[in-house]
Amino acid sequence: MSKPFYITTPLYYVNDEPHIGHAYTTVLADVIARYHRLFGDDVHFLTGTDEHGQKVATAAEKIGRDPQSHCDITAQSFVGVWEKLGISYDDFIRTTQPRHIEVVKQILRRIYDAGDIYQEEYEGWYSVYEERFFTEKDLVDRKDPISGRPVELIRETNYFFRMSKYQEWLLKHYEEHPDAIIPPFRRNEVLGFLREPLGDLCISRPKSRLSWGIEIPWDPEYVTYVWFDALLNYYTATVSPPDGVQVGWPAQYHLIGKDILTTHAVYWPTMLRAAGLDPPEHMLAHGWWLAKDAAKMSKTSGNVVKPLDVVDLYGPDAFRYFLMRDMVIGQDANFSEENVIKRLNSDLANDLGNLLNRVTKLLTQHFDGIVPETTWEPEDSLIEFAAATAMKVRRLIEEVQIHAAIEETLQFVRAINRDIAAAEPWKTVQSDRDRAGRDLTRAAEGLRIAAVLLAPVMPNTIPELFARLGVNPVPDRDWDDTRWGDRLFGRRVTHGPALFPRHRKPKSEQVGKQAKPAPATTGSETGRDVLTIDEFQRVDLRTATVVSAEPVEGTDKLLRLEVDLGGETRQLVAGIRQHYSQDELTGRTIIVVANLQPAKIRGLKSEGMLLAVRDGKELHLLGPDGDVSPGMRIS
Ligand code: ME8
Ligand code: MG
Repeated sequence: MSKPFYITTPLYYVNDEPHIGHAYTTVLADVIARYHRLFGDDVHFLTGTDEHGQKVATAAEKIGRDPQSHCDITAQSFVGVWEKLGISYDDFIRTTQPRHIEVVKQILRRIYDAGDIYQEEYEGWYSVYEERFFTEKDLVDRKDPISGRPVELIRETNYFFRMSKYQEWLLKHYEEHPDAIIPPFRRNEVLGFLREPLGDLCISRPKSRLSWGIEIPWDPEYVTYVWFDALLNYYTATVSPPDGVQVGWPAQYHLIGKDILTTHAVYWPTMLRAAGLDPPEHMLAHGWWLAKDAAKMSKTSGNVVKPLDVVDLYGPDAFRYFLMRDMVIGQDANFSEENVIKRLNSDLANDLGNLLNRVTKLLTQHFDGIVPETTWEPEDSLIEFAAATAMKVRRLIEEVQIHAAIEETLQFVRAINRDIAAAEPWKTVQSDRDRAGRDLTRAAEGLRIAAVLLAPVMPNTIPELFARLGVNPVPDRDWDDTRWGDRLFGRRVTHGPALFPRHRKPKSEQVGKQAKPAPATTGSETGRDVLTIDEFQRVDLRTATVVSAEPVEGTDKLLRLEVDLGGETRQLVAGIRQHYSQDELTGRTIIVVANLQPAKIRGLKSEGMLLAVRDGKELHLLGPDGDVSPGMRIS
């Protein structure tokens, strides 16, 4: 039977747009989940959104929306980003879902009936921003010690959870389970905290002050505290998972940032204990992504790098690779576009991309693109290297040392590159074809294994790498695929454009430049304007098939065309009536500029421009040579 592996991310507040911090935790969970699927574990990956509380209610009110529809919209923006990044979650939970509200009420009732919830008058400093109370001595400059935001003194009667009752038990639990909190210095922080007296936890808000929450089942005057509500989601998802799925409790991993360590490492296990449930097996508190100036990069300082910016510029896998490789779990890391470029160039363009390029190019040049069959020598050092790498990667992933697992794989890639450089198959192919063939097959097989090991990090690009090696479908659920063998014998490889291109300049600069007016003639001796390849590629040229053509009334020059752009029909208005008849046009495949700003011509919308060349009085439409489908991009 396969091992259960239930992994979660925090539920992100919907009052904010998704940013790099959210993306990091979610990509991390995705990468770990994908590795464990490769190990054959029974993975369940949960993420979602935290939707109750003052902040959300206020944000909704500001824009004049009711809180639920506000949540519906903002939750969707998280879903959209996760889709873009290729996040393979099994369940997306929202704290406003009926399945969750149900479970929160049940658990509250259970703990109340057991006598662990009582009512009392309370006075404390409340931070709306962090949605929690602080005591007088917690405050820094009379402000919220975490976010530095204002706090207000609130005195009210509330419900309290007897958290103090479970202090001894929790301390003992952490002492006996040294890997319950990762990394160890975070565990020590929690142990230190637990050696001080632990108070009880205020778990309600009067509805008069906050109504956007889950009602306390025995007292309709109150709703439950956001954290009590939010934390329980991890359990809800096991009680009522998506159709056909079974998930057991406890969770193997809760991934969190260091900002929410106390709620997860102290409140949560005591709540579970009171409800008669086991604590989670591991909690992993990672560090902070920092901007260059070391300002905390989240909504707290307003200094937010939108993940989509980097994703759009460099692609989702480049972003994922950078996040995973550049952060040592537990520590903070620096984010800058410069760092992204450095990492992409060194690891992906130089090492991995170069290997793929060499292997496919040499096989195409000298072996008609077919991977030659060969026999392996058991003492081959590269074969041993491959086996050792796979073993180390597996151990490192089990220890959640993602950056180190990636580095091991890259060391292996570098070894293959060295190996092929030393073997010089491009020379030996003349004198000893068998040997050259074996050297190339060996490099290809090494690359295949490296690709299996990197697939969880780059699930959007590695399938293309496999396709280049002639492997289809993509292996992703079978650890056996990391074993050296004959899988590539006889496969047809393809040599194509760089999968991992080298970046010479920050792309954001290039985009910035394009926004400005084009500079006057530069550098070129002929005096013509010089276009960079990126500038050229902004022009979306596509093949299109003319579906119909008819004259535009009131002119003798214009035709109204309907063209098929590969599933999308567009209307173009073009001045070609004197050169082409309607019949000549219908069915013809032409080339259009597909991303030209639409124009109104004689009251008709024209969505694009067709390409033609004028020679004297004659006009000729341009089209592809041969039979090409509509909607193909011209490059
Ligand atoms: O705290 N670097 O939600 P939240 C790395 N709703 N990770 C970061 C980060 C950064 N600069 N900024 C944010 C909440 N994160 C609660 C959680 S759970 C039951 C309820 C990540 O939207 C990190 O994982 O403020 C952090 O813990 C989380 O986003 C906080 O997200
Ligand atoms: Mg936060």
